[in-house]
Amino acid sequence: MKSKTQFVCGDCGYSSAKWYGKCPGCGAWNTMEEISVPAESARRSSSAPAEPAKAVSLQEISTADEARIRTGFSELDRVLGGGAVCGSVVLVGGEPGIGKSTLLLQICDRMQGVNRILYISGEESVRQIRLRADRLGVKGERLKLCAETSIDRIRAVIAKEEPDFIIVDSVQTVYCPEINSAPGSVTQIRECTMQLMQIAKGEGRTVFIVGHVNKEGTIAGPKILEHMVDCVLSLEGEKFVAYRILRSAKNRFGSTDEVGVFEMLSSGLSEVENPSASLLSGRPAQVPGTCVTCIAEGSRPILSEVQALVAPTAFGNARRTAAGLDYSRLYLLLAVLEKRAGLPVGACDAYVNVVGGFRIDEPASDLAVALAVASSFRDRAIPGDIAVFGELGLTGELRAVSSLSQRISEIARLGFRRCVMPDQQTSHLHIPDGIELIKLKNITECIEYCIGK
Ligand SMILES: Nc1ncnc2c1ncn2[C@@H]1O[C@H](COP(=O)(O)OP(=O)(O)OP(=O)(O)O)[C@@H](O)[C@H]1O
Ligand SMILES: [Mg+2]
Repeated sequence: MKSKTQFVCGDCGYSSAKWYGKCPGCGAWNTMEEISVPAESARRSSSAPAEPAKAVSLQEISTADEARIRTGFSELDRVLGGGAVCGSVVLVGGEPGIGKSTLLLQICDRMQGVNRILYISGEESVRQIRLRADRLGVKGERLKLCAETSIDRIRAVIAKEEPDFIIVDSVQTVYCPEINSAPGSVTQIRECTMQLMQIAKGEGRTVFIVGHVNKEGTIAGPKILEHMVDCVLSLEGEKFVAYRILRSAKNRFGSTDEVGVFEMLSSGLSEVENPSASLLSGRPAQVPGTCVTCIAEGSRPILSEVQALVAPTAFGNARRTAAGLDYSRLYLLLAVLEKRAGLPVGACDAYVNVVGGFRIDEPASDLAVALAVASSFRDRAIPGDIAVFGELGLTGELRAVSSLSQRISEIARLGFRRCVMPDQQTSHLHIPDGIELIKLKNITECIEYCIGK
């Protein structure tokens, strides 16, 4: 049987008969990889017409047994949209060492509605997994381990053990012996994921697959991998911060706005049910350059503290650093402060940091960044009972934000007495007792109110 050679881009899946240094599909450099595909004649060996596929009417399909598996971590369940749908395929990605294997091993003990779990690892030996399980306190009565990388043997062990729940750690180590390319290559990943999908959909088993990320932070392998699976989760975190944030990049059975917050301890990942309180603990009182804001991550409001340090530039160009927020957004806010609020911050170095390793990419956090900078510049503290939110426009105006009632309730719950916010309609909302809403129109008014003239 003759096979022909093709070149496929590892990033976008573009294929061509010729090799290119730069992929014509997505413009990435050095991503084309050689693969061999069986010739057309070999693929169409039988000329008999195929048996027609079965079509069913929508009404006939029963959904009575549509069940979700509770993973035992309410944070993970929330991100999955209320638990993992039986028979679905979930891809979990994340930086090396972030805690993917830890999370998946921990759910093995906690899961409800599952009788047999099979953990297939291509990265660690069963002994190493046992050691980790001991450290995490995972007993694993329903759990069987298997260190295997060949997809044929994996299929065989699944057929023998008949697990309801399968964990594959990681898809980059699994290979299909019939394909003539290295494990982790585009064709291997595509083929192995396809076979795992067939097992999930055909046999009704739930499959969690671990995927490595490449240096840009996206899941390594072709984009098609993300198209194939039902749900793509990513576990994120900063290097020196114990918080881990679980996001969903795609979810066929739930919203992608939700986040789960975990903390990495020596006993494994632990859920942070009250992230606002954890993030605000240790907040300095009455110190210039800090401001509390409320970001809305999905249906969930989280308070976080923005700190700024502004000092005259000693030499050369002004230095700016932004940790936890967009760098260009900081430039924009500094320009708004200079031009609309009359603060000459242009000639100053500005360092802005979001405490706790959280990222605040939401425009609603603009006001907190601007006020933290202004407070540091003036060297005057913002009173400790004020929390703020609002988007800043280029003319310095304060613009309306969404998820108002969640934000205000969370601010009130954590004991703040005043909430500085845009002048938007709140009469239809339930405002908790003990919180005063200060509705202001622009940045100048906010600075006057929070810091003084
Ligand atoms: N004894 C320990 N005490 C505290 N934390 C630990 C301990 N051992 C491991 N960890 C944490 O667990 C992390 C490793 O987790 P895990 O192996 O689950 O990551 P992973 O995402 O599966 O990584 P990889 O991509 O390499 O498979 C370490 O980076 C460390 O933060
Ligand atoms: Mg791992």
